[in-house]
Amino acid sequence: MPQPVFTSDAEDAPWALVLAAGHGSRMAAATGGEAKQFLPWRGLPLYWHAAQAMSRSGLTAGLVFVFPPQRRAAEEERLRALCRSHDLGLPWVCADGGETRQDSVRQGLAALPARTRWVLVHDAARPFVSPALVQRVCAALREGAVGVVPALPVTDTIKTVAEGKVLATLPRHSLAAVQTPQGFCCATLRRAHAAALAAPGGPATDDAALLEALGEEVRVVPGETVNVKLTHPQDLDLLRPATPIPRFCTGMGYDVHRYGSGRPLRLGGVPIEGGFEVVAHSDGDVLLHALADALLGCAALGDIGRHFPDSDPTLEGVSSALLLDRVLTMVREAGVTPCHADLTIVAQKPRMAPHGAAIRKNVARLLGLPPSCVNVKATTEEGLGFTGRLEGIKAYAVVSAQAAPLDAAEHSSPLNPTAERL
Ligand code: CTP
Ligand code: MG
Repeated sequence: MPQPVFTSDAEDAPWALVLAAGHGSRMAAATGGEAKQFLPWRGLPLYWHAAQAMSRSGLTAGLVFVFPPQRRAAEEERLRALCRSHDLGLPWVCADGGETRQDSVRQGLAALPARTRWVLVHDAARPFVSPALVQRVCAALREGAVGVVPALPVTDTIKTVAEGKVLATLPRHSLAAVQTPQGFCCATLRRAHAAALAAPGGPATDDAALLEALGEEVRVVPGETVNVKLTHPQDLDLLRPATPIPRFCTGMGYDVHRYGSGRPLRLGGVPIEGGFEVVAHSDGDVLLHALADALLGCAALGDIGRHFPDSDPTLEGVSSALLLDRVLTMVREAGVTPCHADLTIVAQKPRMAPHGAAIRKNVARLLGLPPSCVNVKATTEEGLGFTGRLEGIKAYAVVSAQAAPLDAAEHSSPLNPTAERL
């Protein structure tokens, strides 16, 4: 059999079934009857998170969402809307689920494109699955397996029991707790489902069991502890936002002004004597411009060129201290509080040493920070480059700031610290 390639655009890349047709009856008392796969987490339904992990793996070609028949039309509509705001990056279709999970898988298989050769079957109730696990399952298929399950060793001792009495203790070393996504050769899984439909016996709780019944070998890859199947009311704790953690950010700014007749040189709002002038639309304070850009960087708000364009006649000769103040307002409104600025002036001339203390004091005043939170450095470039040729002056600024914690809706569950940070 030729080995599958499995990049998401390869012809034989697997499709994934996202099973979302269950009733969630074991959890219903805590959800007001809503089936668990439709509960929101970070503002999006759980089944969407499961689908996103499939997409982020970069190995799946498309998705079949399997929904309860009576909800399918509404969910299809919701998916279309979600895809407009959050790119899923994969083609998808919807299928009607059935009475049992096994029915839902069989009906999902029927909705796959005709030439699908490999398929992943995943529970929508496992929203924390990582793209890395999807990749592990695909890698085993690529190596020739016809069936693959992720599994974890069990930590509890497992016994068979009946009517409140223990019948036997199973040897723990040979037991494994099996998860999804499970990966299959599509033809083999279809054959296994057809055989199961024809055979008596209760519905299977996973698909690998149906291959086992046919005597097909099922390969095991390591599962992951975060890949919990939300089942009981207490599992809802995993969806609660974690305690917000403080967030820090850094912004960097850089600016250049050409020497030439225009505006008398000012740095950090301090007039610098010596007869140097810069060409500028505003008052040409290269240091305050670099500082403003660094502040905007902290708040991811672009740059001063965007907010105060050269083409704006009202900014002709405007004080850079005023622009800085407007930038500070924007940054604070974005929830960012600057706490430290490190500034570097690069100029061959004039000599900066006599002005450093005054610049530091004035910048601290403009930022509303104590001078101990502002550092001003100056250097020449040893006669090299445009500063060396006395053609201009440049400045760098690095600002550190504290930012508002991430919106609770975007915040990680403690169980899922890695999956969302990929
Ligand atoms: N599932 C399905 N169709 C069914 C039953 C289950 O698509 N007829 C899906 C569920 O939506 C879930 C996954 O299969 O994503 C695993 O099933 P399970 O955890 O048992 O979910 P439910 O059957 O919904 O829950 P419960 O058994 O508590 O009713
Ligand atoms: Mg069930």
